Amino acid sequence: MKKNLRSTILLMGLIIALVFTTSCSKQNTDQADEAKAFVADFSSEEMMAFIESVASVDNARITGFEGEHQTADKIQETFESLGLETSVQSFPIQSYALNSHSVQLVTDGDRLLENANPLSYSIGTSSEGLLGQVVSVGLGAEENYKDVDVTGKIVLIQRGGEYFYVKNDRAFSHGAVGAIFYDPNGESISATLTHLSEIPAVSITKEDATWMEQKLLESQVVEVKITIDAKCEDSESKNVIGIYRSKDNKDGKKVIVGAHYDGVNTPAANDNASGTAVVLEMARALAEQKVELPFDVQFMTFGAEEIGLVGSDYYASQMTRDEIKNTICMINFDMVGVGDGIDISTAGDPRALSLVKQGQDVFKEIGFTATTSESDRSDHASFATVGVKAIYIQATPDHNYHTDEDTIDKIDPEMLKHMCDFGTKMLMDVLAVEN
Ligand code: BES
Ligand code: ZN
Repeated sequence: MKKNLRSTILLMGLIIALVFTTSCSKQNTDQADEAKAFVADFSSEEMMAFIESVASVDNARITGFEGEHQTADKIQETFESLGLETSVQSFPIQSYALNSHSVQLVTDGDRLLENANPLSYSIGTSSEGLLGQVVSVGLGAEENYKDVDVTGKIVLIQRGGEYFYVKNDRAFSHGAVGAIFYDPNGESISATLTHLSEIPAVSITKEDATWMEQKLLESQVVEVKITIDAKCEDSESKNVIGIYRSKDNKDGKKVIVGAHYDGVNTPAANDNASGTAVVLEMARALAEQKVELPFDVQFMTFGAEEIGLVGSDYYASQMTRDEIKNTICMINFDMVGVGDGIDISTAGDPRALSLVKQGQDVFKEIGFTATTSESDRSDHASFATVGVKAIYIQATPDHNYHTDEDTIDKIDPEMLKHMCDFGTKMLMDVLAVEN
């Protein structure tokens, strides 16, 4: 009896599953047919040539400088030549350039600290430098200032928990005249304060920080001299948009496919000439093969990501309610050419999880098991903030992130093709998830 009941339940389950899969696979077959109609033919040569043309020198595309502007023009020309509806959105920013810097440990015979670097947007010092005593304030949270007087001092702060600029502003508000950051895990810090700071901020190695902490524990005085010559100017940056219009799209639905094209003070090949190349190549493939989709695809390349997602935030924060409603999703490609792993992340919006799942399925189809994570470190986050489902695609790991080693020779052309393949397959599939 017990056995009979179990087999009846099993049988019923089987029937339900069968009915369910048949009705689902009908829709999936339609989608797959459509996908098959598009024979992917991505050119890694085109993508590598683009990367070569915009990432072959140091400081190739720093936000607000010549290289960034020239790259915007190049992207615009490409969109236009593909027949996309092209537009450029300019916005004001502050550009930041570092001329020279040094950090000296006065207490240790003026020892020059190696691997000490100003954070981006650190205000400069006088040419004589800023001399001050060091006070340790742990993570630099509000509570860390309760029992210490940092007036006129230089604070030593651990990375973690809050943005660097929040900690730096807080140090200033408590009267500190400078800040030194370090990573307790020994990682090197390459960070931005996103706007010109009130007090100079540098990062040092964990070893040097430990040396200072030890002296302070022994109640000894630690004195440092920070010298920074930097230039901060009013400038502009641009988002470049190329819309691939659908012929059959009455309600104005669209998918946004984006990547930032600005860089830090490196060749910035993987971060993020790679993502930009993928966006351009997807646009080329769709436009040249005249693929028909029931929604528009808005290819977008963002400026000023590296100074705090400024370009994407400028765009997203001006989206109308209707536009937000009609934007099916946003797919962001950032650092997609180095590493043989793949990660899909969201900015913490649970509504985007269906998209993550879809992304994992698509990657599976092309032979990858994608990991998932949460991150607000790239442009998808600006869209998540205004309520657009957004995912961030990244190849992992890249050990040369924000270093001068971020060069084209590290980029795997095949991975770029996989990313294009993934992106177009996502477009073919998108409505299956929506419906
Ligand atoms: N592509 C990076 C983000 C990234 C790098 C994520 C490595 C995961 C691993 C992006 O361009 C970047 O550098 N973002 C900044 C934050 C932004 C708000 C200025 C960052 O992560 O420091
Ligand atoms: Zn990036």
